[in-house]
Amino acid sequence: MTKLVKTGLVHVFVLCGLLAGQSALAQDKTVKDGVFTATQVSSGAAVYESSCKNCHNMRFYRDTLKSWDKQPLIYLWETVMGTMPADNPGSLGLDEYTNVLAYILSENGFPAGEHTLDPDNGMDQISILAP
Ligand code: HEC
Repeated sequence: MTKLVKTGLVHVFVLCGLLAGQSALAQDKTVKDGVFTATQVSSGAAVYESSCKNCHNMRFYRDTLKSWDKQPLIYLWETVMGTMPADNPGSLGLDEYTNVLAYILSENGFPAGEHTLDPDNGMDQISILAP
């Protein structure tokens, strides 16, 4: 093979890799699509009252959602789980982190629906939108 052909092939492989990567990241849902249930919202409200309310008000979460516009929801979930509550990070159960996120989304005008929000099942496919 000539060097030129080889280089050409490498480019084709790199391009395919990029395209494949992009479709794996494609997000087909947004937080507008009923991606959490009303039950999660009411459980999340209790978590919020006891563990989050002291340090942030809803305006703070609104601004946070704005700054996370178009990002996968799972990144926010991971961030909150890894860093919050700031005085005791990671201290809540996985469900509590999930439910509090449902509550925060609901308070910012996003609708509850049929789908249970689940970090192990499709949360990486849901994009955040600015409220
Ligand atoms: C002891 C105070 C405290 C508590 C309790 C607390 N936070 Fe925070 N939180 C902070 C601080 C400090 C920051 C970072 C500074 C800032 O952006 O204001 C922050 C940042 C955040 C952010 C922004 C993250 C980002 O990178 O955009 C989110 C979302 C958040 N907190 C959610 C929560 C949730 C949900 C709870 C309840 C489970 C909670 N916090 C409880 C103090 C607290």
